[in-house]
Amino acid sequence: MLANKRLVFGITGGIAAYKTAELVRRTLEQGARIDVAMTEAACRFITPVTFQALSGRPVYTDLWDPRVPNNMAHIQLSRDADAILIAPASTDFIAKLAQGRADDLLSTLCIAKGDCPLLIAPAMNREMWLNPACQRNIQQLRDDGIFILGPGAGDQACGETGDGRMLEPHELLAELIAFFQPKLLAGKRVLMTAGPTSEPIDPIRVITNRSSGKMGYAIALAAQQAGARVHLISGPTALPAPYGVTRTSVESARQMHQAVMQAASDNDIFISVAAVADWYVSNASTQKLKKQADGAAPALEFALNPDILAEVAALPNGPYCVGFAAETDQLVEHAQAKRLRKKVPLLFGNLAQHAMNADDTALVLFDDEGHEQWPAQSKTQAASQLIKAIASRLYT
Ligand code: CTP
Repeated sequence: MLANKRLVFGITGGIAAYKTAELVRRTLEQGARIDVAMTEAACRFITPVTFQALSGRPVYTDLWDPRVPNNMAHIQLSRDADAILIAPASTDFIAKLAQGRADDLLSTLCIAKGDCPLLIAPAMNREMWLNPACQRNIQQLRDDGIFILGPGAGDQACGETGDGRMLEPHELLAELIAFFQPKLLAGKRVLMTAGPTSEPIDPIRVITNRSSGKMGYAIALAAQQAGARVHLISGPTALPAPYGVTRTSVESARQMHQAVMQAASDNDIFISVAAVADWYVSNASTQKLKKQADGAAPALEFALNPDILAEVAALPNGPYCVGFAAETDQLVEHAQAKRLRKKVPLLFGNLAQHAMNADDTALVLFDDEGHEQWPAQSKTQAASQLIKAIASRLYT
């Protein structure tokens, strides 16, 4: 998602600097190139050797670095960069940026950056964050066109709890990726379902399926990164809520149905990715079913679950509906029939035996024009392509 992006990571003095090591690693996995510049205080928390080993490139700490051909690291580093990220950004460094001071390599580099976008991830004690001087400086940075990422709230290294924690590496990575994404769904409201559903047999046992939620969660994140406000209604999965997405957790198909119908009319787009159980156990027991002396199996009875996607698609003035079809055979025939039966303009199909719980998928797009096979790719890449396909149909 960050292929060919050239980034400069600036690290200032704060205990959160240890998280930046993980962030470098994860950002490199997305295809970026990273140059690291550290302040003197940052080197007290974590060494340049760590970042040199992780980034595979020399680390810059000195304004007078003789390794740079013209001895101007502060100019060279930002010249071919797509963005600079300061993480962690200390209270002192934020004050320096607000005042336009340039007394070390990193602050000089930020002043000399020209048009290169600057993003900062503040990290400090909650009282320092709330201090009027710090808030004034943050406002100044916003006015100067600098992007402020976070901070988050929670337990702090000092033992206190509140605002001021640096965002977690996966959250900063999501922010970085979002920064470079075209805002194809800016201001749009997207409702989604994802994951399996789980139908109780008794208080202990359930009937469920092999859906991991990976595809739906990747689409939720891609929609959020494209500028949409995303509400994800999810069956039980092991996945954390995608960064910046509102998640409502449900278990059964009927709970999912109720949550979706409550929210459907307030949304512009509905993307139905969940593997919804077709039936629920209509004689589910309120007590644990015990084995019978004669070995007889329990006589489960089933009733049909509501078809959530078809119901949303039938709403007058409802959202633009996108369906999914996981098939094991005759993908094109089944998916085409499903799209017409559910009356949705756009549907994506894949082969369940390859896609379920996998990290990659080969989607087939179905619409009024016919169908189009997409290559096998990561679910993250497929999600981004899918958002483009939706946006191009709705908001060309
Ligand atoms: N879906 C839904 N509610 C259901 C069943 C399915 O909203 N009760 C949605 C799924 O989220 C998906 C699409 O409908 O977007 C197709 O789901 P799938 O399980 O592939 O198809 P079914 O409608 O269940 O048909 P069949 O079991 O015959 O394949």
